[in-house]
Amino acid sequence: MADEYDTIIVNGVVVTDTDIADLDIAIKDEKIVKIVPNGGLKDASAKKTIDAEGGYVMPGGVDAHVHLDEPPLFGKGSTADNYETGSRSAVCGGTTTMVTFAPQKKSEDTLLDTLKATHAKAKDACYIDYSFHLLVGNPSERALGEFKTLREEGISSLKIYMTYEALQLHDGQILDVLLEARRQQITTMVHAENGQVIDWMTAQLEKRKMFAPKYHGTSHPPMAEVEATYRAISLSEFIDTPILIVHVSTPAAAAHIKAAQDRGLPIYAETCPQYLFLTKKDLDQPGFEGAKCVCSPPPRESEADCDAIWDGIANGTFTILSSDHCPFKYDDAVQGKKTSISDEHPVGHFKYIPNGCPGIETRLALTLGEGRLDLKKFVEVTSSNPAKLYGLWPRKGALVEGQSDADINIWYPPGQMQPYELKNAMLHHNVDYTPYEGRTMKQWPRYTLLRGEVVWDKENGGLLGKKGYGKFVRRDGSSLAGPRNKGEWEIPL
Ligand SMILES: *[C@@H]1O[C@H](CO)[C@@H](O)[C@H](O)[C@H]1NC(C)=O
Repeated sequence: MADEYDTIIVNGVVVTDTDIADLDIAIKDEKIVKIVPNGGLKDASAKKTIDAEGGYVMPGGVDAHVHLDEPPLFGKGSTADNYETGSRSAVCGGTTTMVTFAPQKKSEDTLLDTLKATHAKAKDACYIDYSFHLLVGNPSERALGEFKTLREEGISSLKIYMTYEALQLHDGQILDVLLEARRQQITTMVHAENGQVIDWMTAQLEKRKMFAPKYHGTSHPPMAEVEATYRAISLSEFIDTPILIVHVSTPAAAAHIKAAQDRGLPIYAETCPQYLFLTKKDLDQPGFEGAKCVCSPPPRESEADCDAIWDGIANGTFTILSSDHCPFKYDDAVQGKKTSISDEHPVGHFKYIPNGCPGIETRLALTLGEGRLDLKKFVEVTSSNPAKLYGLWPRKGALVEGQSDADINIWYPPGQMQPYELKNAMLHHNVDYTPYEGRTMKQWPRYTLLRGEVVWDKENGGLLGKKGYGKFVRRDGSSLAGPRNKGEWEIPL
């Protein structure tokens, strides 16, 4: 007789964004089909049984901020990971769904070609399920007219930049994007830093011959982020449409976000492990080493800043925690960090260092292992909320009978893992460093399942998933609060 289930997971402590309970889970045809108290499946037949031995069983990670296989948009660097290596790294760290960027250049006037080209890069290459945010570099009339089609194609989010010459939109263009996004129920992600302030600060540093990697931090003062965050909130409130401020690093920007949320505005916010674990000290390393931690916004002044970001996660200011995986090799003078080194600038020039850090594989284990977040909050910001905000819930980011894909992480039972030192050699990206080298780790996913398949088994083979198993997932609109007023936006008279 055929088995009742494909796989059952027993003796787990199941954690979702709303509950913690001792439950067993049954899986069939890629879906979660039954959840019962521990012991409730003892008479069930299954092809495979996984004993969680008291470990936490959580929905697979959803990473909604990932850069893969992007052309050099800001300078010489090209992302070191493509869809294959990036998604491989993701799955080995417990992330089962990623939303990457499909970047439209300023010189292009359509988004649909960008979408098509990005589909071609990802097709048959991914170890995990995926979707794309369209990055709008040129909100031409044609591009704005395509938002409707994007929704039909299963894309419900866009990203825009308030900095970087190659992508920066001025406020009128931002209003154009927000208005059309409102009509199509699209969530707009905003990189909120004031580009002109950064350029001005860069010129001040150059005049003083200050070129070392650490001056990347100086050139991006907190004020540039705080001002742009407040401006983005103001523009969003004016058009009455939801935005998500990406990679928030500054307590004062978080305070503006919290105040807007307290007024009932649909303002969402993201932060990343680099703002929880890194500071200015990591940028101020001997020689060129600091380049490894050059990302924008930069790691901030002190641990007090990190503490405020942790608090912001705990108190609900931050909706999601993403990696902002933006990988460049360090020891690479053709595409990586060392493209910024020249005869004139033997320890590099901060302005030319490709911006970004790898982190898709370490996001979950670093954050959970730190033990600072309530378990339900951890699931909420790393899995459930990104799924809700970007229209994937409850298929992703949840463990709901009959509705959720069987995307599951099983962690080591608390205290069972001997603390160990993280080394880049343990990771599966195509990058020659991790900013977290040498950090003491206390957790790692023991098993990861994607649509019912065991794709990671730490002790028996490691990576078991297959390239090409990951599928494009069509997304709906956000299931978090949207515009406060119904109907068309009207010019305030
Ligand atoms: C929540 O965290 C934010 C960001 O750190 C902070 O500005 C705010 O004061 C905190 N709010 C409460 C009520 O603790």
